[in-house]
Amino acid sequence: MGNLDFIYKRKSIRKFKDEVVPKEDILKLLDAAVHAPSPKHQQNWHFVVLQNKELIDKMADVVTKSHEHIGALAKTEKDQKTHMSVIKYYTLFRNAPVVVLVYACEYKMIEYKILKENGASQEELDRLTSAQSGAQGIGAAVENFLLGASAMGYGACYMTGPSHAKNEIEELIGLKKDGYELMSMIALGVPEENTPPQPKRKPLEEVVTFID
Ligand SMILES: Cc1cc2nc3c(=O)[nH]c(=O)nc-3n(C[C@H](O)[C@H](O)[C@H](O)COP(=O)(O)O)c2cc1C
Repeated sequence: MGNLDFIYKRKSIRKFKDEVVPKEDILKLLDAAVHAPSPKHQQNWHFVVLQNKELIDKMADVVTKSHEHIGALAKTEKDQKTHMSVIKYYTLFRNAPVVVLVYACEYKMIEYKILKENGASQEELDRLTSAQSGAQGIGAAVENFLLGASAMGYGACYMTGPSHAKNEIEELIGLKKDGYELMSMIALGVPEENTPPQPKRKPLEEVVTFID
């Protein structure tokens, strides 16, 4: 059996040193990302790399603004407090030297076309798309990136929290790729010393069922 230490070594890193990540290393990690499996090998992803500190800072500002806007709509103080308590997890990329925005285009399903042309109900169509294959491929690509980053001594964090501000982010960076949607982002950099340990997992007995 192979050594799986590289899996156990990875953890989300949310604090970074003020050190540059060389472009060749970023490209190496993106190459690892695109070697992930994708549904019907459609490779429905696109990656946008940000390294401009000022732009990254502004992006954290637009996420904060959008977060506060949603918070202000909360019906109770408790809901508002809970909502605002996660802001640091949605803007942690502010101090990352690199942020990779991960986009997806539509995953084309021939089954969908066939059923739709034959008058399938919305329920049948929803059942077909509920696996969200396109999004699952993005997840596989991001995980490859994260594992690669950790193996190369970098720290990274997978983030979907800021996605409520995706329109504002697209406007800020001035990139609107037709047919593509912002799915997640990855904060990348050299990790600070003494970052918190990886949180404990649920026991396998709780999350695994064998059927003999
Ligand atoms: C789809 C997805 C979205 C996530 N979004 C965020 C996020 O917005 N902010 C954050 O700090 N962590 C985010 N995380 C990281 C999780 O909080 C983290 O993986 C989990 O707590 C387990 O910790 P570990 O990665 O150190 O094992 C996300 C993880 C995944 C898979």
